Order: sequence, then C-alpha cells, then structure tokens
Amino acid sequence: MSSTNPIESSFELAAERCEDLRPLVYRRLHAEHPQTLALFRSEGSELVKGSMLAMTIEAILDFAGERSGKFRMIECEAVSHDAYGTPRELFVAFFGVIMRTLQELLGPDWTAGMDRAWRDLIAEIETVVGETA
Ligand code: HEM
Repeated sequence: MSSTNPIESSFELAAERCEDLRPLVYRRLHAEHPQTLALFRSEGSELVKGSMLAMTIEAILDFAGERSGKFRMIECEAVSHDAYGTPRELFVAFFGVIMRTLQELLGPDWTAGMDRAWRDLIAEIETVVGETA
C-alpha cells in the first residue's frame, strides 16, 4: 500500500482487485435505492453513469486530499441534480454506496481507519451539500 491517506488506500486496494468498479457500484445503487433505475435515461446511460462515477471518485480523492478544486464539483452537482430529480439525501447516498462497494471488495483488508475516514468524509459532504440546498 503506497498511500497513507485511508481514502486513497481504499481505492488503491480496490483497484488491485477490480478493474472496473462501475458495474458493482451501480448494481448496489439500484439494489439499495431502486428508484434510481428510473432516473437514468434508457439510452446512452452507460456513458453517463461511467463518467458520473469517474468524476465522483476524482472529487472524493480531492476532497479527502489536497482540495485543489475538483471537490467543488460536489456542491455544483448537488444543484444540477435537483433538475435530474435526485433529492439531496439520495445524492449523498451515492457516496455511501461507493464506500460499501470498496468495503466489500476489500473484505478483511478494510481497516478501522478507512471506516472512520469514509464516515467523516460522508458526514462532511452531507453538511456541504445541505448548505447549498
Ligand atoms: C444516487 C445519487 C445520484 C443519482 C440518482 C444521479 C443521477 C444522475 C443522472 C440521472 C444523470 C444524467 C442526467 C442525463 O441524463 O443527462 C447524472 C449525471 C451526472 N452525475 Fe449524477 N446522480 C447521483 C449522484 C451523483 C454524485 C454524488 C455526483 C458527483 C458528486 C454526480 C455527478 C454527476 C455528473 C458529473 C453527471 C454528468 C455526467 C456526464 O454526462 O458526463 N452524481 N446523475
């Protein structure tokens, strides 16, 4: 493990085990929140879902790391998602879905430090997104 940031480490370890998180993340999202199935367009949604996940991960890494700017996308997207019919609670839930996907992939290698860092991150995102409501 090369990173000392627990959020980064969780992504690094997951990447060693799984080339593409997308199917796992969206399977979990649709299972935990079935109403999300109807929110994505029926055609071309694979591309949108792929870029949505990639951009969310970039924003998470920036939020948990140097906060150079990409993390601001979270606030902006919370607003644009109002127009997509995604309530703020559901918007925040996506971060928990990503966390649990990594946790499942890592199994016994999921550490208490990762757990804490992810929970803190999600709580902070909840505050940021709530404030822009
Ligand atoms: C469960 C929560 C979420 C749902 C249901 C959701 C739903 C959607 C939908 C329906 C679209 C496509 C709109 C279209 O058809 O053009 C979309 C696009 C997008 N979403 Fe989400 N979203 C969620 C969470 C998030 C989060 C947390 C982020 C990032 C912080 C995010 C970032 C994006 C981006 C960047 C796009 C545009 C992708 C592109 O077209 O390249 N979404 N989302």
